[in-house]
Formats: sequence, C-alpha cells, structure tokens
Amino acid sequence: MSASKRPKPPAAPVETTGHEWDGIRELDTPLPRWWLIVWYITILFSIGYWIAMPAWPGLKGYTHGLLHRSDRAEVVKALDDLSVQRGLLGKKLLTADLKAIEADPELQSYAMAAGQAAFGDNCATCHGAGGAGAAGYPNLRDDVWLWGGGLEDIHRTIQHGVRSGRPDARVSMMPAFGRDGVLKSGEINDLTAYVTALSRRPADRAAVRRAAPIYAQQCVVCHGPAGKGVQAMGAPDLTDQDWLYGSSPSAIQQQIWNGQGGVMPAWQGRFSEETIKALAVYVHVNAGGR
Ligand code: HEC
Ligand code: HEC
Repeated sequence: MSASKRPKPPAAPVETTGHEWDGIRELDTPLPRWWLIVWYITILFSIGYWIAMPAWPGLKGYTHGLLHRSDRAEVVKALDDLSVQRGLLGKKLLTADLKAIEADPELQSYAMAAGQAAFGDNCATCHGAGGAGAAGYPNLRDDVWLWGGGLEDIHRTIQHGVRSGRPDARVSMMPAFGRDGVLKSGEINDLTAYVTALSRRPADRAAVRRAAPIYAQQCVVCHGPAGKGVQAMGAPDLTDQDWLYGSSPSAIQQQIWNGQGGVMPAWQGRFSEETIKALAVYVHVNAGGR
C-alpha cells in the first residue's frame, strides 16, 4: 500500500498521561468496560475460592477451606475401596472351583486381568506375546493340546510343569530312536516318509509301506494307531497341520533321531494359588475355552 493512501490518524483530542518523548505522547485510554467487569468477576471468584477450597500455605499446614476438599484423601479412599474389592475377588478366586470362575462374569474378568499380567511377565518369554508359541514352545491360543485343553488339565500343567523334575510333573519321553541306536537310519528315513504321509502330504509310497510295521511296533503306544496323538502321554497328533518342532522332513527326522522333549517349569510355589487359577482361566479362555 502506498503511503499516500494510508488514512490519517484521527485528530480528536485524546487523554494523555502528560508524558512525552521526542514528540511521542503516552495515551491514557480508559480500559474497556467489558474487560473491567470480567476482571472484577475473577477477583470475586478467587476470594470465594480461597474461602471454600484449600488455598493458602501457612507455617503449619494450610487453610483447608469450608468444603474440606482434598485430592489426596480421595485417592486414598479410592485405593482403599479397590483393595477391599480386590481382596474379596482374590478370596473368591481361591475358593471357587475353576468352572465357577469362568461362569461368573465379574470373577472371570478379574481372573483374566490377573492372568494376563502374570502371563506377560512370566510366560511370554517362552510362549511368545499373548501365547502365540514358537518352535518347541506350544501355541496356547489354539485348541490343539499336548496335555489336554480342559481347565483342570491346563491348571495341572501350570502347577506342576512338564518334565520339570517335580514329583507331580507331566512326564513321558519319546526315545531317541537314532541316537540311542534303537532304529537304523534307513528305518528312520522310512518313518519320516510315514509321518509326512500321515499329515496327507506326498511321500515315497514304498518307504511308507516299509515303515508301517515299525510305526505299529515303536510309535503306536504314544502317538496312537492312526497317529492322532495321546494326551496322557503328551504325544502330539501327527496328522494335523500343527507342528511343535516343524513340518519339514528334516525336522521330523531330527525328532525321531533325537526324541527331544520340551521342559515347562512348575509354577506351584512360585505363584499363589489364586494366580495359578487366574492363569489357567486366562489360557483356557484365550484358546477358545473348550
Ligand atoms: C522356560 C520356558 C517356559 C516358560 C517360562 C513357560 N512355559 Fe509353558 N511350556 C513350555 C514348553 C517347552 C511346553 C511344552 C512341553 C512339552 O513339550 O510337552 C509348555 C507347555 C505349556 C502348556 C501345555 C500346552 C499343551 O499343549 O498341553 C501350558 C498350558 C503352558 N505351557 C502354560 C504356561 C504358562 C501359563 C506359563 C507361565 C506361568 C508358562 N507356560 C511358562 C515352556 C515354558
Ligand atoms: C514314549 C512315547 C513316545 C514314543 C514311543 C514315540 N513318541 Fe514321538 N513324541 C512323543 C512326545 C511326548 C512328543 C512331543 C515332545 C515334546 O513335547 O517336546 C513326540 C513328538 C514327536 C514328533 C514331533 C511332532 C511335532 O509336532 O513337531 C514326531 C515327528 C514324532 N514324535 C514321531 C514319532 C515316531 C515316528 C515314533 C516311533 C518311531 C515316535 N514318535 C515314538 C512321544 C513318543
């Protein structure tokens, strides 16, 4: 904008403070009325607030105000209420049987929360975040079970572990057929084809035929005549798509050769009985709850 078009300042007389520097005068325009009203209201409000609410520090404490409000006291009370409620739920969890916990929505959601916290801190290292599993560590989110997926089964596995050395642990050991020289390596190759065929994948037919009597003699006790697995032995179903150690022929062969068995620690004694129950409910519900 050019200088000539700029409007001239009004020449009306204005109040000044009388101060002047180099021809610049200090105006003394009164404050707008609305502004003053808001200002007075805030002053009145602050006085009311000092009277009603805790406000001024003193040498020994502070002014408590007529309303005696205290955030700290409220937090303490809320925590008290919560711990009473938790204590009650914890006691209920301890005495209720597992089925009853799942049937009671309040108790179940308490168990799920407690179970999730304990799982994240203690189980996820092996079973993966949320229990998704990894090679050698079973997925706990599907309904495929080595040792049984009923609430009581899961509870027992968590309490005593698998091959944990505890007297009540779940035990069973697949023999190391190759390493211990029970079977010859040709027989193990044939069995590898046999197991591959069990899960309905293409395999050398002659090898499968040769392996059938060896399977019947050596493997049926634990894996069952049709390869469906036996939960009392912790022996997996060999006919499904779910593999603990891997589905490839080399993984299968290596398992028949070495007969490795996973170790799951026992948690009784490390956790309270409530926590173990909460974990059993958490695992059971997450896996589909059958
Ligand atoms: C050190 C590793 C490790 C930790 C930690 C661990 N587990 Fe396991 N868990 C295993 C292994 C390995 C198996 C499989 C055992 C087998 O091969 O039979 C297993 C099996 C299980 C099973 C049985 C699965 C089935 O198919 O029958 C359950 C249930 C289970 N774990 C729950 C838990 C819970 C709950 C925790 C935490 C409190 C936990 N695990 C912590 C290693 C672990
Ligand atoms: C004493 C019982 C027992 C006998 C006998 C046995 N197994 Fe097993 N087998 C198991 C157990 C238990 C597991 C699971 C190991 C684990 O949980 O870590 C297993 C796992 C396997 C796996 C791995 C499956 C997977 O999901 O990764 C294969 C393959 C297998 N067995 C094949 C055989 C064959 C073939 C024979 C016969 C030559 C045989 N087993 C004999 C108990 C047995």
